[in-house]
Amino acid sequence: MKEHVEIPLREKNIVLIGFMGVGKTTIGQLVAKKLYRDFIDVDQEIEKKQNMPISLIFQKFGEDYFRKIEKEYIVDICTNTRLKVVSLGGGAYLQEEVRNACLSNCIVFLLDLSWDSWRDRMPLLVENRPLLKEKSMEEIEELFIKRQNAYSLHNSKVSTNNLDPETVADEIVNSVKLTWSIYEPNQ
Ligand code: S3P
Repeated sequence: MKEHVEIPLREKNIVLIGFMGVGKTTIGQLVAKKLYRDFIDVDQEIEKKQNMPISLIFQKFGEDYFRKIEKEYIVDICTNTRLKVVSLGGGAYLQEEVRNACLSNCIVFLLDLSWDSWRDRMPLLVENRPLLKEKSMEEIEELFIKRQNAYSLHNSKVSTNNLDPETVADEIVNSVKLTWSIYEPNQ
């Protein structure tokens, strides 16, 4: 087994998790800019690598294949990179290996949104999300609730209810800077 190397807190990647459409990409880009870091959107990188949209990957190769490449890519980012801001796809964190890689190497923020607020955004999201297509509202709500157990394993949580992305990004940046100053005060 590979030896675990402890990454200094200030160099750890910042990982954003949360349900589809909570704003992980938009907020991640803002956080990266505010901290002068590179931003990685896992879904966009997978689309580039596979040269096709996620919806087509699902359609041609199935969800299991997508989950496999998603997991391998995230574990690689978590173990081999530093100083990034990373947005995960909403289902990635359901995989135990992904959670373990994120929690042992990175600072994990949950972008939290209530079901009622999420439901209002739903019409904007369906088109590009294979998992939302052909599902009833009840089934989507079930998925939303079922995923909260995995999402509860994080380092910190920010609510995005009725907040603009800039405000949420500021909250994350302030929280990270506070953590740095408490745990690594002399750097
Ligand atoms: C998924 C979320 C999507 C994308 C894929 C599956 C999910 O990412 O990875 O469609 O299972 O929740 P976003 O969370 O960015 O929409």
